[in-house]
Amino acid sequence: MSHPASTHRALKHPHRPAHRWALACLAALAGSGAWCATPDSLQSGYAAQAGSPPSAARGQVLFTARHGHDWQCSSCHGAVPTQPGRHAATGKPIGPLAPAANAERFTDPAKTEKWFRRNCNDVLGRECSALEKADVLAWLRSLQP
Ligand code: HEC
Repeated sequence: MSHPASTHRALKHPHRPAHRWALACLAALAGSGAWCATPDSLQSGYAAQAGSPPSAARGQVLFTARHGHDWQCSSCHGAVPTQPGRHAATGKPIGPLAPAANAERFTDPAKTEKWFRRNCNDVLGRECSALEKADVLAWLRSLQP
């Protein structure tokens, strides 16, 4: 089975990409690169957009409940996202979604937005609201490996 080298590295050496990212992130901040983010800054952004505070408990329900479609979030990411998941259709490994277990998570707003859009459409049949994204982030950030 083949999977991207970066995923492989992230699983084997969870700390190395974070260092590389931190340096690149500092460089980008100096040049005001919009792609530079942290799980905290993304959650704050969604909460500000929603105009109300996030709830980790609501995030867990959204993540693990069935929403009338074939898949739940946990079908691919697992109900314990500090651990690796597996794509429900292709069987491909997916690195842990919780940032405490995977330093690359929620550091690239374009990537986060792309997958929220795609996965919420698959699971809920619509895009997630800003509040729902903030809720999911609050729950994922509360998890420790
Ligand atoms: C059919 C499988 C599948 C389902 C169901 C699924 N995901 Fe994903 N998700 C993926 C894959 C594949 C990726 C991209 C690969 C990676 O980042 O490891 C991903 C990435 C993400 C990311 C990107 C995180 C980052 O690195 O910034 C978020 C956020 C996410 N998923 C949230 C969700 C949420 C919320 C749900 C439920 C509404 C969900 N996913 C359901 C397969 C799935």
